[in-house]
Amino acid sequence: MKIVKQVLILISLIFLIGCGNEKIFSEKTSKITEIQEAGVLNLATSADYAPYEWHLVEGGKDKIVGFDIDIAQIIADELGVELHISDLDFDGLIPALSTGKADLIISGMTPTAKRAESVDFSDIYISQEDVVVVREEDMNQFNHLKTMDFVSWATQKTTVQEEWLQTNYPDSDIQSVGQWGTAIVSLKTGKVDAILMVKAVAEQYVKQNEDLVIADIEEIGTQNDSAIAIRKGDTDLKNKVNEIIDSLNKSDMINTLYIENTELMDKNIN
Ligand code: ARG
Repeated sequence: MKIVKQVLILISLIFLIGCGNEKIFSEKTSKITEIQEAGVLNLATSADYAPYEWHLVEGGKDKIVGFDIDIAQIIADELGVELHISDLDFDGLIPALSTGKADLIISGMTPTAKRAESVDFSDIYISQEDVVVVREEDMNQFNHLKTMDFVSWATQKTTVQEEWLQTNYPDSDIQSVGQWGTAIVSLKTGKVDAILMVKAVAEQYVKQNEDLVIADIEEIGTQNDSAIAIRKGDTDLKNKVNEIIDSLNKSDMINTLYIENTELMDKNIN
């Protein structure tokens, strides 16, 4: 009899622990509820990257715009909350997500295996190739990857471009900066000779700077996919984001947003 009683106590204990765990588990996984209770979706981005994200100054007012921002706004609308944007250097984005200062990162971020050790990634929403930006006067001199062996480079800290340069040109002078705009200034003022950059963004910087061009160099072969970074364990948010990306892709909306933002950027230059 005593044994039966002990077994019964044990069973009810297991049951109780089980229920308790389930509660903790469900509370932890409902990131969407947490965002909706706060009424705000916190986005971290690095707004030096037109047409993905950049500062548009209109009528003396500074606003962060771009197709990444449009996607973030669509997610916020879908969750029924306000969008709050933190503009950080690219190397500050993953720390902001990991420490809970941001709910997601949308910043043309490539879902690398190394990053995936600390954050989760959504499906890819856009893919782009990399190009080399040089001064127009050097254009004829730099026309093949081999001609780039002894040049100095500028790049953005902790990007896939920085990693590619460090791997392929280990003996070159590679200046890593917080923002692409600083890399552009270094190129214009002769501190460096080249920048490796994603094509869409390079096209925008070249349009704004008549002394710069995209070098006529064969394809670099770097893969520059973009995905949305979400904190590990925020699975409901990740699923929701993937649902939204899927429907945006199906309706060709990402492409439309890309074109709209490129036009917005062009209008702002002229
Ligand atoms: N795709 C590259 C990477 O993930 C560069 C992204 C830079 N993004 C930006 N908004 N500055 O490393």
